[in-house]
Amino acid sequence: MNIREMFDDISPAYDLLNHLLSFGRDKKWRKRAVYTLEVKENDFLLDIACGTGDMLLAVKAISPLTFTVGIDFSLNMLHAAQKKGLPSQLAAADACALPFNSNYFNKITMAFGFRNIPDKPRVLSEAYRVLKPGGVLGILEFSKPENTLFSVLYWFYFKYILPSAGAVISGHREAYRYLPESVTSFPNNDDYLDMVRSAEFSNVILTPYDFGICSLLTAEKVICP
Ligand SMILES: C[S@@+](CC[C@H](N)C(=O)[O-])C[C@H]1O[C@@H](n2cnc3c(N)ncnc32)[C@H](O)[C@@H]1O
Repeated sequence: MNIREMFDDISPAYDLLNHLLSFGRDKKWRKRAVYTLEVKENDFLLDIACGTGDMLLAVKAISPLTFTVGIDFSLNMLHAAQKKGLPSQLAAADACALPFNSNYFNKITMAFGFRNIPDKPRVLSEAYRVLKPGGVLGILEFSKPENTLFSVLYWFYFKYILPSAGAVISGHREAYRYLPESVTSFPNNDDYLDMVRSAEFSNVILTPYDFGICSLLTAEKVICP
């Protein structure tokens, strides 16, 4: 499946489905991530795979003066972001080849985008490169819940109800079949943490949200003198 074309196709229904299928929790997760990352007014923040711009909206709601840039490789998703009138710079770019100088940003966010990128080490190395020393990366992603009872209910919803509802509303059956598959094939927590540490990040922490359906990974670029 071509990921860029898939997001181009589902862009008109993306926001509605995101809020509906997560029962509105997606907005809370992004907001919580912005607070955890301690985004400040003098920060230079890059949102990788910004899509329709909801992470940038969350940042602006909490810290209106933060300088923000969003990149995504789907033009239709970027157009949807543009329509929201965000006071952010938006650019079409591949997360694997960021069009920025090294040591430029001091915060990087990536919400629900990392899972979709096949060459994960490459994105991490690009994020590391464009972060200033002392800068922090925050990756928000779906994850697999730990509690057994909750896990049964969750997988039933995620594998059967969500793909059908997503297919009906977006008209794109394959995209919403892909969502649970991409979460299933995402590395387990230990491998995920190792992957981020292998990209030279330090202080790597994974915080589960809502019984672990979603998690925030934070990691710092520390340069030893
Ligand atoms: C699930 S959406 C998330 C959008 C947004 N961050 C949010 O919080 O709703 C995933 C986004 O990742 C983008 N994406 C996937 N692979 C990418 C890549 N290699 N480079 C840039 N964007 C990519 C897609 O175009 C899509 O907009």
